[in-house]
Amino acid sequence: MRLIRTIKQMQDLTSKLHRQGRIIGFVPTMGALHEGHLSLMRAARKRCDAVVVSLFVNPTQFGPNEDYARYPRDARGDAVLCRREKVDLLFMPTAEAVYPEGHDTQIRVGRIGEVLEGALRPGHFSGVATVVAKLFQMIQPDVAFFGQKDYQQTVVIRQLVRDLNFPVKIVACPTVRENDGLAMSSRNRYLSMEERRAARILFKALQKGKALLQQGERDATTVQEEMTRLIRQEPMAKIDYVSVGHPETLEDVSRIEGPVILLLAVWIGKTRLIDNALVKL
Ligand code: PAJ
Repeated sequence: MRLIRTIKQMQDLTSKLHRQGRIIGFVPTMGALHEGHLSLMRAARKRCDAVVVSLFVNPTQFGPNEDYARYPRDARGDAVLCRREKVDLLFMPTAEAVYPEGHDTQIRVGRIGEVLEGALRPGHFSGVATVVAKLFQMIQPDVAFFGQKDYQQTVVIRQLVRDLNFPVKIVACPTVRENDGLAMSSRNRYLSMEERRAARILFKALQKGKALLQQGERDATTVQEEMTRLIRQEPMAKIDYVSVGHPETLEDVSRIEGPVILLLAVWIGKTRLIDNALVKL
């Protein structure tokens, strides 16, 4: 595995790989790697000739009161994990290289970037879209791998790729969970033992919604209310949103007639967690 620190070096290496006819698979991350990230690397390893992982805590996707400064960072540990997954190139650019003095272009993804997560975290998906577009330019991947854990992010990225004609295939991989159902996340490290126990309520609520749908419930409001009621039983939980939406537009549905995406964002103490479940009926 090679560690790449400059954009120039990265661009030169991937141009060379392309000339050799290699299929480049790319996994963008912000580090503090866990099994969820590793599953994306394995998917890339299976499908591609060369695997590139980026590790960059992107300042522009964090709001002013969010956790950019205290976001977990463990470059050395992350490099060990990447090497174990047979990653070819680990790209770790500095914030100054990605956003030099005078950088003044932002990509704004329209409606899909402004609902749900986008409504509660203004500018978040603009930051994500901008950095992903920049990373695509630096790495020129053929295939890029994202986790369904961040469901709205995958929808935003597909929109970005479509609208800006990036020649990149987007693959979404299933959410990797802990034994008790909690979706793996770098932010789980913030949870105290008691909060960690309380955090199980997210998965329980998704299972509740899924069960109702499988039992034939077709009124989205009922599903949404039942999930909300369950989460409210957990005293440490505070709901940002619980949504029953269309899997592609994420728009609220009323009468359920096809597949739906259950999306939720819940605070457990001072930690904000998101999770989702796609229910195909
Ligand atoms: P980060 O939160 O580090 O996640 C990197 C990738 O890992 C994302 O595609 C995310 O959906 C995926 N992932 C996280 N937890 C997962 C889990 N439990 N199971 C499967 N996949 C999981 O998402 C970002 O970074 C950033 O927004 C980024 C795309 C890198 C842009 O800065």
